[in-house]
Amino acid sequence: MNGFKGPGLRKVGSHSSLSDADDHDLSRLHDRHILSLDRQRSCDERSMNELSISVRAIDSHDSVYSPGGMRSGFSTPSSSCRNPFEPHPIIAEAWEALRRSIVYFKGEPVGTIAAFDHASEEVLNYDQVFVRDFVPSALAFLMNGEPDIVKNFLLKTVYLQGWEKRIDRFKLGEGAMPASFKVLHDPVRRIDNLVADFGESAIGRVAPVDSGFWWIILLRAYTKSTGDLTLAESAECQKGIRLILALCLSEGFDTFPTLLCADGCSMIDRRMGIYGYPIEIQALFFMALRCALAMLKHDTEGKEFVEPIVKRLHALSYHMRSYFWLDFQQLNDIYRYKTEEYSHTAVNKFNVIPDSIPDWVFDFMPTRGGYFIGNVSPARMDFRWFALGNCVAILSSLATPEQSMAVMDLIEERWEELVGEMPLKVTYPAIENHEWRIVTGCDPKNTRWSYHNGGSWPVLLWLLTAACIKTGRPQIARRAIELAETRLLKDSWPEYYDGKSGRYVGKQARKFQTWSIAGYLVAKMMLEDPSHAGMVSLEEDKAMKPLIKRSASWTCPDPAN
Ligand code: GLC
Repeated sequence: MNGFKGPGLRKVGSHSSLSDADDHDLSRLHDRHILSLDRQRSCDERSMNELSISVRAIDSHDSVYSPGGMRSGFSTPSSSCRNPFEPHPIIAEAWEALRRSIVYFKGEPVGTIAAFDHASEEVLNYDQVFVRDFVPSALAFLMNGEPDIVKNFLLKTVYLQGWEKRIDRFKLGEGAMPASFKVLHDPVRRIDNLVADFGESAIGRVAPVDSGFWWIILLRAYTKSTGDLTLAESAECQKGIRLILALCLSEGFDTFPTLLCADGCSMIDRRMGIYGYPIEIQALFFMALRCALAMLKHDTEGKEFVEPIVKRLHALSYHMRSYFWLDFQQLNDIYRYKTEEYSHTAVNKFNVIPDSIPDWVFDFMPTRGGYFIGNVSPARMDFRWFALGNCVAILSSLATPEQSMAVMDLIEERWEELVGEMPLKVTYPAIENHEWRIVTGCDPKNTRWSYHNGGSWPVLLWLLTAACIKTGRPQIARRAIELAETRLLKDSWPEYYDGKSGRYVGKQARKFQTWSIAGYLVAKMMLEDPSHAGMVSLEEDKAMKPLIKRSASWTCPDPAN
């Protein structure tokens, strides 16, 4: 395939290798990284209050670009080492596999296919470039100093956003981004054509709510890493951002600042009981809003969005930190809830019936630790753990520093359950029997402890690692990466693993799943040079109101008024 560049590792001057047992050094490195981040604190890391409603003339250039591309000052090694001079053998293999998955449009790289699995009889849609799947590939390329493929991808997808999208006779919102696209090569006429899927051919016909958010997050990562402001500032990208925002900030009948979603609208793209207000979407929504705020130009069209974004961020963080957060104390409070409370003084605002708390959660909840639960809506709390949403909550600083630490504590305390033999459980626990029948609609792919239903997804390693770096707990990431390294290459980079502890290659898992490969590489590179995490992490907004106790009523009118 053209564009293949040998072993795939960027040449660098020196190796800043870290020995396996050297956690101490890594935390120092992390500290230094924090310092350097602090020094370079850019506008997007400033308080949303500072930006405030009055649309101050902030040069959006500063907002996403940190001179030096957020590098920590260490030369970035292109691969990791078990000893200082020899990269881990898996790394070269991983780069080769990643490069094999590159898709070209008119000779230019524009993305990576979901899986390059020749052995599999059915291709299904794994030969497409998925927006969410491309994110770790993009980060790997950015970290390796190869931003062109990322830029091309961002431009191609924003171009696709401009298409008219229909499902039967119904027209989708203008801002919807594709779940995936494909390049069709016509060898006779020698032309390339794009075909995109906005949900109209996906299982369940659901539009991917996460695509637009990932697109915004990636645009910021690109800008942060390259210092190239022209892409984010281009008319196409500014319009792309505004269209996505218009979709998710539109007013409706909502009483909550969270985003109401259909089942299957994100990474978990089949019916799995995540309809309502799934944590994955809320965390991505929060992060995308913060990234958008930093990248939006304050021109006539752009500035219209600033106030709605700022207000939404405040409401959303308050709601999530108060109602989605679960730790031992919260669980105990919910367990003792009274029901049928009306008026503003209600403590149990959503009228959750304590009897609906599943038994497993009482055993699962450690004294130390906590997490954002899967979903909160009237009379319904989905207590399941979802890895992606919790990691993104940490990266975006939707989680307070204390909550972020508590999530890390939980992962340590419940290592067997959440990591087991292969990082990381996409969701925990699995649903079985009658519940599985009702919730999944008897989905044979999502049987207990398989696929989305308690399966283990190596791709999540990069998110875990980024969260570990942000919270100063790199030793957790290292432990997880070491586990993955014992299996991934040997098993040909499966899409997911099955079983309670993730020991078996998934029943229908693709091999050479690109995001498993890229996720591993990104995790590895971030651990070596923690400053890379700056691409996907936002510092805490100090002015964001601290968590208010659950009993303080959220709509309580100010008595002074
Ligand atoms: C599966 C996953 C989805 C992913 C796609 C391509 O459908 O559930 O998250 O984007 O495969 O890898």
